[in-house]
Amino acid sequence: MRVLGLEASCDETAAAVLDGHGRILVEAVLSQEMEHARFGGVVPEIAARAHLAALPALTARVLAKAGLEYSDLTAVAGTAGPGLIGGLIIGSGFAKGVAIARSIPFFAINHLEGHALTARLPGLLGQPPPAFPYLLLLLSGGHCQCVAVEGVGRYRRLGTTLDDAVGEAFDKAAKMLGLPWPGGPHLERLAALGDAKAVALPRPLLGRAGCDFSWSGLKTAVAQRIARGDARREDVAAGFQAAVAAVLADRAAHAFAMFPAATALVVAGGVAANGAVRAALAGAAATQGVPMLAPPLRLCTDNAVMIAWAAVERLGAGLPPDALDHAPRPRWPLEELLSQQSLN
Ligand code: KG4
Ligand code: ZN
Repeated sequence: MRVLGLEASCDETAAAVLDGHGRILVEAVLSQEMEHARFGGVVPEIAARAHLAALPALTARVLAKAGLEYSDLTAVAGTAGPGLIGGLIIGSGFAKGVAIARSIPFFAINHLEGHALTARLPGLLGQPPPAFPYLLLLLSGGHCQCVAVEGVGRYRRLGTTLDDAVGEAFDKAAKMLGLPWPGGPHLERLAALGDAKAVALPRPLLGRAGCDFSWSGLKTAVAQRIARGDARREDVAAGFQAAVAAVLADRAAHAFAMFPAATALVVAGGVAANGAVRAALAGAAATQGVPMLAPPLRLCTDNAVMIAWAAVERLGAGLPPDALDHAPRPRWPLEELLSQQSLN
């Protein structure tokens, strides 16, 4: 089996080919960071045009690198939501084109399902991949959710953000500190020079029932503290990071209380790169007596391996491919995969 995966839902254009066991034959990611940096965030129209310009050549290059032709492919998967509609149309449309040209099955993959299943790629973690059920914390620039992963296509969102995604909060705090976009990694480096106890910042929703998130109050507190002009930048960064880590650990503990069957905590998304966040979440997992697993960073952030892998998992679970008139969906809650399945 040879499954081509394509991802273009946000600001990464990515292609990968996996075999039926989930072995990665080839993978590539083109980041559009340079195109968007001067606007301080992703500009949807620029993203769509860049995906269109990049995807055909990237796919050709990826196939050539693996010594494959389009005729070697047995299935093709494209991200069909949630995300920016322009990129979704381009990525899933291109995948449909390949499916029509080669008469092979097409899978319209939910981007969040890709993140949810990545940790199950064989050989990834140096230990057996997690079995179902497990708890997923998705912490990226666009998403901030606790998800109960009960099986392929079987997801329940336990909690989500009431305002910003956690990566967005990092980026906005970083911007206030005069750091370039995307600011998360810069903020982490600055925080390493500071004292987290020097600047006390609020910990939104800490201890509150459920596992929703809210970052706007923390963001406002950072702005006010900077405006007062009496705190060192590195201390503000450290205080912010400590507040985020503490809240995430608390929310994870509440998610475990809502989902005691979880056998592992899987962390994904760009914010999973943060050392303080990882340490706090490892603590929450240890308290629950389960391992914390995080895919390597290149597979934590947006990539096409996870899209091809979701298709391999769907095939393995006996789930059918999607119709060629499947419409991409900018909003596509994970729960809806379950009701779609019961219709089949
Ligand atoms: O998953 P991701 O690469 O992309 C999307 O959201 O699509 O996540 C990017 C986010 C950005 O907000 C970035 O600032 C944040 O992850 N991030 C970090 C770190 N590395 C990336 N946040 C905190 N600490 C980091 N080391
Ligand atoms: Zn993502």
